[in-house]
Amino acid sequence: MSDRIEELRRRHAAAEAGGGEERRARQHKEGKLSARERIDLLLDEGTFEETDKLVRHHSRDFGMDEQVIDGDGFVTGWGSIHGRPAFVFAQDFTVFGGSLSESNAKKIVKIIDLALKTGAPVIGLNDSGGARIQEGVLSLGGYAEIFLRNTLSSGVVPQISAIMGPCAGGAVYSPAITDFTFMVDRTSYMFITGPEVIKTVTHEDVTKEELGGAMTHNSVSGVAHFLAADDAECLRMIRELMTYLPQNNLDGPPRRTVNGADSPDREDPELDDLVPAESNVPYDMKDVIRRVVDRDSFFEVQEHWAKNIVIGFARLDGRSVGIVANQPAFLAGCLDIDSSVKGARFVRFCDAFQIPIMTFEDVPGFLPGTAQEFGGIIRHGAKLLYAYAEATVPKITIVTRKAYGGAYCVMGSKHLRTDVNLAWPTAEIAVMGPEGAVNIVYKREIAAGATAEEQDAVRQAKIEEFRERFANPFVSAEHGFIDDVIEPRETRPRVIRALRLLETKTDTMPRKKHGNIPL
Ligand code: HXC
Repeated sequence: MSDRIEELRRRHAAAEAGGGEERRARQHKEGKLSARERIDLLLDEGTFEETDKLVRHHSRDFGMDEQVIDGDGFVTGWGSIHGRPAFVFAQDFTVFGGSLSESNAKKIVKIIDLALKTGAPVIGLNDSGGARIQEGVLSLGGYAEIFLRNTLSSGVVPQISAIMGPCAGGAVYSPAITDFTFMVDRTSYMFITGPEVIKTVTHEDVTKEELGGAMTHNSVSGVAHFLAADDAECLRMIRELMTYLPQNNLDGPPRRTVNGADSPDREDPELDDLVPAESNVPYDMKDVIRRVVDRDSFFEVQEHWAKNIVIGFARLDGRSVGIVANQPAFLAGCLDIDSSVKGARFVRFCDAFQIPIMTFEDVPGFLPGTAQEFGGIIRHGAKLLYAYAEATVPKITIVTRKAYGGAYCVMGSKHLRTDVNLAWPTAEIAVMGPEGAVNIVYKREIAAGATAEEQDAVRQAKIEEFRERFANPFVSAEHGFIDDVIEPRETRPRVIRALRLLETKTDTMPRKKHGNIPL
């Protein structure tokens, strides 16, 4: 008995030692934590239960000199985050560069399977040189098994990836399928093919950082959702994100009061003057969001990419909501390809996990131009439309200013089964802006002016007339497309009351295997 216990202790110690002190020191020198240090920071203190610590890798099985590796480089298991269960795996770069083998892939597969059965989130901490070269197709098979689990779990349990070192080649597709990807600045990178291959094939010179660094994927490609300064901040941000997410698709969003009480009845008089009187003067929609939601509860997603749409989680009277908002401070809040894709995936996440969607709308339309048309704005814009239309969670839309054209339909209009649609008195809801509209509708009247001044005078008069007649919230309200026009200051109490009402909402989709969202 005592021999066995001795052996157990030896094997545990060997697994904990990973690739050894020297390699761990190198990891620290590069500003990276070890796999176990990361897990300790991620989970509630002392809650980690490790699985498969006794898994053994024998190098001779793969044609190498015999080397026995306990744990085989990945640390897997479960623990809790803010008291709720979560599964975690962490790739240990000190063991074969964190490379994926047949046996450590099985460790990941095991915890994802268990997460799916128990309904708890999965968090992957990636730091790996990719497929373990010595294992060939066995390693590739391991990746594919993980991709399958990521796909089957999608929409059932939240899946989160943190990139905390290399993540290259096909390995990137696991994070890509998961719901949210964090990247650590300067120490992480993701790409399908690295700088050397690119140089050979296309003769382009690019550094690892430019090609696939954290800022590149947070601001250019949209692959990542969050940028962290270092490992510790990354793990703290994941813990914060978790406070907004349910455990699974049946759980319902968490309700909690953090950051002190914020009265559900709080009105904000400053909102009354926040939208500029001049229709084309920008303002920051994040000011509106922060004034409406519970104090300090706005947690922005993809802050650095497609800034003309703002997405993120927040709390209203303690309930998690997903915020989708046009941002007049960027591209005048126009919808374009990137913002449509960004908004659509977020709306679908919220819908899959029963998180109500709250839309703040100020959109002059879709962005004109050949770049957008050639890039497929028709196909990509349709994604956002489709996502809103299929969402059955509680949906609330506030029109703060512009709601023009097709973008009016897309951004949570009444016609797409939105439950509560409110508008501020500054709202302008019409087929297009007054300037564009009068040039078409009153073309002849304008041309009849004898001089350019006269023509301009006619144009201005018609613009005013159009604005009075069409570009206001009252026409829509008369038709019931807007439920009420409200004073901006009352927005918070009004949406909180609506959310309470909608807690018992049920809505369904026609029976089908799945839809065919225009990808
Ligand atoms: C086995 C690997 C490895 C790998 C690194 N190591 N990558 N062992 N398989 N894929 C080992 C190294 O031999 C070394 O061992 C240790 O890990 C640390 O690696 P270094 O090169 O010393 O570290 P560094 O200089 O920081 O460079 C890191 C790296 C580089 C950029 C990741 O190691 C590298 O380019 N690795 C290969 C990357 C790659 O091409 N992978 C396959 C991609 S394709 P010692 O014993 O010296 O410490 C792929 C397909 C996935 O992954 C398919 C999914 C469908």
